[in-house]
Amino acid sequence: MLSHEDNELLCRVGPGTPMGALMRQYWIPCLPSSEFPEPDGPAKRMMLLGESFVMFRDTNGDMGAVAEACPHRGASMYFARNEECGIRCQYHGWKFDRSGTLVDIPTENPGSRAQQHFMNTVRIRAYPCHEVNHMIWVYMGDRETPPPFPSFEINTIPPEWCQRPAIMMEEANWLQNMEGDLDSVHLDHLHRRLYADAPAPPTGMRGFWNPSKSLAKLDVERTEYGAYYSSGRPWESDQTWHRINQFIFPFHTMISVGATINLRSFVPLDDTHAMLISHSGNPMGPLPEFLSVREDDPFGEVGGYQERTNDPRSYFVTKANKRNDYFRDLEVEKDLMHCGIPFVLNLQDRAMTELMCNDAGEPVYDRTQEHLGSTDAFVIAVRAQLLAATKRLRDTGEAPANVDDVSWDRVRAASVVLPNDVDWRSHSKLARSADSGDPPSDDVPLIID
Ligand code: FES
Ligand SMILES: [Fe+2]
Repeated sequence: MLSHEDNELLCRVGPGTPMGALMRQYWIPCLPSSEFPEPDGPAKRMMLLGESFVMFRDTNGDMGAVAEACPHRGASMYFARNEECGIRCQYHGWKFDRSGTLVDIPTENPGSRAQQHFMNTVRIRAYPCHEVNHMIWVYMGDRETPPPFPSFEINTIPPEWCQRPAIMMEEANWLQNMEGDLDSVHLDHLHRRLYADAPAPPTGMRGFWNPSKSLAKLDVERTEYGAYYSSGRPWESDQTWHRINQFIFPFHTMISVGATINLRSFVPLDDTHAMLISHSGNPMGPLPEFLSVREDDPFGEVGGYQERTNDPRSYFVTKANKRNDYFRDLEVEKDLMHCGIPFVLNLQDRAMTELMCNDAGEPVYDRTQEHLGSTDAFVIAVRAQLLAATKRLRDTGEAPANVDDVSWDRVRAASVVLPNDVDWRSHSKLARSADSGDPPSDDVPLIID
């Protein structure tokens, strides 16, 4: 349970909020490269942390992101012409390059004092962009020179070894969405099949099965970069299966899902919409066949995405959503699966988290109402870490260590079976490292057959 004040502090991300300030310290994954297939193509609206901006790929193929309002008289740069290494406002032709510099001002006479004055003093707010492995990241903070780019494994392996990111809009506050990734225990309920040899349902994955029937035991370690934990389930002959997952400031997780690495980012557009960007890859070589197949249409099995409007909050909204009960199938729920919503990426999870509301009816969960127990240990730890980091930044100006030291990003999730009498932290050290040179540890597959 949280106080109302702490809950608000964690959830609200707009300009001027403490959590918004924490997130603005970091590079933020924004849109996939595929959204901008060609140089000088049309600009696209985007929104992050409650700020609207437009993005474009310039003549050289480099990405730009600038504030939506033109500094002349406020026309939307969404309609701007994208030409000759810059973006030209349709209204009166002022043109800016991707650094935000005013490069042409056709409304003043060339060489006039007015022209010189504007050229020297007017800029459009520009957000630096960095594109790697099918994904465009932006930096929204105040530093003149952005911090080093994150060194997550998914950013440092060759592009052919990476899937394209699978993106899903979640129509709720970012934190309640992310908390699902901090809670291994819901596997035993929400994602479970009804009996050990229950066949796969017609749509989606076969459910999880915990052969031991015992409760998972959570053990948490707080770190400079966030926290990690083991959910330990009894395994054969005095052994424990440790499913070890990561939380990395400000909104990333890594969860053990098999022989691949992943980065899952819960990126807020505003307080009631956040994307889950799930980016996976194979650190040992080109992608295995089964992973390449799914990548172009991650929600194809459940009808794909809804048609978009020009509002970024309509991007990546799946056809299965809260307005149609996420295509819940009650026959499947009766015979095969604990939950009849297709087990496709995070659809089942969304049904649990998107409906959490406060008294005002916003999908921003009111954590003064909850009752946390022993299986919520990682949720509790991550909130404490986020609160401490947010307050430290607000009160002292000091940001978490992984803003400037991106070596903290070199971690992995892991799935390891260890004897009961060993210290799982030290014995999983290599498995938790992105620099071990080994394949991701996958002692136990997520969906146990
Ligand atoms: S409003 Fe953009 S050039 Fe005038
Ligand atoms: Fe889940």
